Amino acid sequence: MKEKDILILAIESSCDETAAAVVKNGREVLSNIIFSQIELHKLYGGVVPEIASRKHIEKINQVIEEALAAAHKRLEDMDAIAVTYGPGLVGALLVGVAEAKAISYAAGLPLVGVHHIEGHISANYIENKELEPPFICLVVSGGHTHLVKVSDYGEYEILGRTRDDAAGEAFDKVARAIGLGYPGGPKIDRLSKEGNPDAIHFPKAKIEDAPYDFSFSGLKSAVLNYLNGCKMRGETVNEADVAASFQKAVTDVLVEHAMMAVKESGLTKLAIAGGVASNSTIRSAMEAACEENKIEFFRPSPIYCTDNAAMIGAAGFYEFQKGVRHDLDLNAVPNLRLGER
Ligand code: KG4
Ligand code: ZN
Repeated sequence: MKEKDILILAIESSCDETAAAVVKNGREVLSNIIFSQIELHKLYGGVVPEIASRKHIEKINQVIEEALAAAHKRLEDMDAIAVTYGPGLVGALLVGVAEAKAISYAAGLPLVGVHHIEGHISANYIENKELEPPFICLVVSGGHTHLVKVSDYGEYEILGRTRDDAAGEAFDKVARAIGLGYPGGPKIDRLSKEGNPDAIHFPKAKIEDAPYDFSFSGLKSAVLNYLNGCKMRGETVNEADVAASFQKAVTDVLVEHAMMAVKESGLTKLAIAGGVASNSTIRSAMEAACEENKIEFFRPSPIYCTDNAAMIGAAGFYEFQKGVRHDLDLNAVPNLRLGER
């Protein structure tokens, strides 16, 4: 007999996207509604937490209604409600968490709190129906840079992490320095196509006692020093060359670390996730390295790389299947660690 389908209503509000989705059996996205606040925060050159929270409150009911309508489902059809409860901006997280608790109580639906990074990793399950743990996942976003061994659904071992800036943060800061504005990642990605990645040599940080860890602050400083040097000498800066050379330095480090992790773990699969994983150069460099090393490569479509609720529905499904249920005292945990419940 066919097992009953599990429908999850998922909510994500940890940063500057107000998002809701309906996901079937963890892998089939029936709807994925994202209200991006980027236009609002652009004015300030980055996410303003207070503005983010207020906008989430304004939009959350609407995105949930749209997600249900687009999926042609009603709240009563849902089996559970999943919500990001950390890490992220506390005020932003609280909006999603409070909403999910209210719906859970009113509709009598089980509540499943989801870790935001577990969501990013699980985005890979949506379009790769055959992907199953164990595998290595490189999570690169605006807030996180984690090299993770996914031993099983919901079972994670962090092999390496950033010591300072996250990869996306480095993209955003360098973009600001060369006058591209926020968010920097997509702009550097685009501008790099017109530049020479070998024009400027930027350093790649290696951390002696922790080969899987990352550090991007030295690279960011090197770019700033280069720009200042040009200015002092009265030289014009070729922004496309700076963007392409910076992007190459980030890409090389990410690829090297990911390859080393897959090889040393004895596993044969690599996935990437997070906003920076939508970068076209990083995607193709990772794909080429995987092909060369006979590693199976997985990456979500760009829409599932940046923040969305479908990924929370995917992660929420596996947590739900494991029996994870949260009570109505679930709180936002801004610095929630991966693997904690
Ligand atoms: O995953 P995400 O939406 O939010 C966090 O969880 O942080 O990631 C946002 C980050 C931003 O820093 C943005 O600049 C970066 O992802 N990003 C990119 C690209 N698209 C978004 N970075 C490089 N290349 C891109 N194409
Ligand atoms: Zn994210």
